[in-house]
Amino acid sequence: MDVEVSDILFFYELEIRKKLHLEACPGQRYARVVVPEDRQLLYYLFQDFIEPVYGDQSKIIEEWINGTGHKKVFLLFRDDRILGFLSLKVNPEKDYAKISTLFVLSRFRGEGNGSFLLKIAENLACTFGRSKLSVTVSEERPEARDFFLAKGFEEIKSVKGMYKEGVTEYILVKRLV
Ligand SMILES: CC(C)(COP(=O)(O)OP(=O)(O)OC[C@H]1O[C@@H](n2cnc3c(N)ncnc32)[C@H](O)[C@@H]1OP(=O)(O)O)[C@@H](O)C(=O)NCCC(=O)NCCS
Repeated sequence: MDVEVSDILFFYELEIRKKLHLEACPGQRYARVVVPEDRQLLYYLFQDFIEPVYGDQSKIIEEWINGTGHKKVFLLFRDDRILGFLSLKVNPEKDYAKISTLFVLSRFRGEGNGSFLLKIAENLACTFGRSKLSVTVSEERPEARDFFLAKGFEEIKSVKGMYKEGVTEYILVKRLV
């Protein structure tokens, strides 16, 4: 499925990039913030990659588009093909930042794209004065748990049924300073 998504969206991203006056260096990754024109893309991607694990995400997508919910959202591209996305929540009432979603399309995993998005999350969290970064990962995505543990996160809690009945979620935290 990744192949189709990425190829179809090639022309779409070309248009948006032109509109935003963004230049992309061939072969280089670039991340850009979500814009309202991304609504359809987000519904499409979430339907395939996020909803099977986390259920209906319409509210979250609308928050991303409207800029509500204290979320900073980025899409990652290379050569106008989407590679992944990142949503970071920086709640003014919390002393930590939270990765709401960090996702690399399966076709583009193992190429450093997850690390690239995580670096953005860490830098942004520091920029907003947060000394900790948290993330919640599902037992249904063991690769995500392994990835964050390998990147210096520590598991502080596990909760069953947080998002999906009978499924355990692991809450991981990384100290940034
Ligand atoms: C976890 C995920 C982001 C990793 O993305 P990626 O682009 O493959 O990661 P990278 O290529 O940057 O790999 C980074 C490191 O993690 C390691 N790694 C990646 N996948 C791994 C896996 N399945 N098991 C163990 N280590 C793994 C790599 O070996 C690499 O190590 P290195 O830095 O020493 O070379 C990706 O698998 C994914 O999107 N999974 C689903 C995420 C998800 O469920 N998100 C929702 C909750 S936020």
